[in-house]
Order: sequence, then structure tokens, then C-alpha cells
Amino acid sequence: MKFFLDSALLSEIEQAYSTGICDGITMNPSLVKKAVDGLKADGERIDLEKYIKKALKTAKGTPVSLEVTDIGTAKAMVEQGKKLFKKFNPVAKNVYIKIPVNPAFDQNPGKDFDGIRAINELHKAKIPVNCTLVFTPEQALAAAKAGADFVSPFAGRIDDMLRKEHSHEFAGFSKEDYYPLNGHMHEGKMLEDNGIVSGIDLVAQIVSIFRRYGIKSQVLAASLRNARQVREAAIVGADIATMPFGVFRELARHRLTVEGMKKFTEDTPEEFRKLV
Ligand code: G3P
Repeated sequence: MKFFLDSALLSEIEQAYSTGICDGITMNPSLVKKAVDGLKADGERIDLEKYIKKALKTAKGTPVSLEVTDIGTAKAMVEQGKKLFKKFNPVAKNVYIKIPVNPAFDQNPGKDFDGIRAINELHKAKIPVNCTLVFTPEQALAAAKAGADFVSPFAGRIDDMLRKEHSHEFAGFSKEDYYPLNGHMHEGKMLEDNGIVSGIDLVAQIVSIFRRYGIKSQVLAASLRNARQVREAAIVGADIATMPFGVFRELARHRLTVEGMKKFTEDTPEEFRKLV
């Protein structure tokens, strides 16, 4: 499974790539805002174009998703997607355009397929697409049929929603807390969202459908909040897990590793140190 970093912060991107195990980056408007706010707070002049280009170069050879923000119509998303691709892809040839599966804010049935239409148009123009904000296997299937290269189910947000709808049960929980892959029972009933019992269950259902039909789109598990979810994304067969830097760092951590190292360091005989 590939590890992507869910961040627009250059400092995090550079650190993640320095490990040699970072396989790509996903950005979204909120993450770009965080980077811009950070630059402002440090009193730096903002040249976002240069900043993004630096990130693309750091990630050379691996995919970087840039998200559209003109989501009014399919046409607007396609136009902005094409412009973003034209401006940024020449830097390191690694840009994927991120399109929301359904950008309709107001349940307007006329707009329900604008995301799908935009994905299809960009796909036909040979622009790689990451379809984002996926919350059902049906949305994932539609995005794959439209030609999305990556399909991104938002696992953590499903867990947030299940917790929120049963907030009495989850008082004091924070969004980083683990939510069980096989769901949570309350008064003899499984908490669920239309047959989805957890964020990772959503990922698992999409993976199983894609495998069953030999669908080539890759399943990119997103909105992961802890290392255990990354593990479970791997167990259920996600192709990619994207994660914030804090979760990326957790991948190498365990208390016993630290304790074990302390003991080995103390125990190393002077004679051994002198060998090399
Ligand atoms: O990759 C999607 C991600 O940025 C959303 O994560 O934690 O805000 O649900 P989150």
C-alpha cells in the first residue's frame, strides 16, 4: 500500500519525503489555507505559486493532488482543472486534479452529476483525476466509471458522523480516537449510515466492489486520523492511504521500541563500541 501525505505544508512535505517512504501528496483548500496562514504568521511574503511548485518538485515522480475550488458547474470545474494542470503539471509532471464527486450544496438534483461530468471530461482530456469526498460505494463506482484514477473515501468523517449522531454515547471522544472497523453496537443495534458501519468499512466495501469487477481506479483511503486506521486500510486492501503528518509520524512509533532501545544502549559493552 502506498503512503501519501495529506498536507500542503512544505516543511511537512520535505520531512515526509526525506524518509524515502512517501509516495504522494494530497492537498485540499483547507490544507492550502493552513499553509498560507502559516506563512503569514511567520511574516513571510506569500507566493503561493512558487510554494506549490516547490512542493511538486519535492514530490517529483509521485502524484500530487490539487483540488478545484470553482465548483459552481461541471464546466467551471473542468476549466479550472485544466488551468491548474497546465500551470502546475509541467513542473514535475505529477499533478492530479481533485474533483468532488458531487459538488451540489443544496441537494439540487440538476447538479448531482456535475462532479461525475467533470471527472469524465478531464479523463477524456487525459488529465489524471482524484475523485474526492466519497461517502458511499455507489459514489465510488460512479466516479470509477467516469474515469477517476483515484477514488477517495473519507473514512474519518464517516466515524465523526456516526459518533455525532449518537453523541450521548461518545461524549469526550475526539476525532483522532479510534473507531472500530466492525462498527459499534448501541442498545443491541449497530450504528450505521445506510449500511456503512465505519469509515474503514466504507473503504473495504469499495475495495471489494472494485476487485470484483476488475476496476482499475485506485482506492485512496482519506480522512484517516490514526495509525490503526492506516493499518486497517491496508488490511482491507486500499491501494493508498493518505494521512496528516502527525499520523505519518505515528507509523514508526511504539513505546516498547523506545524502551527496548534504551536498554540496548545501556547494555552495549565498551568493547563492542570500539569495534567500529
Ligand atoms: O484527505 C482528506 C482530508 O484532508 C480530510 O481529512 O480529517 O479533515 O476529515 P479530515
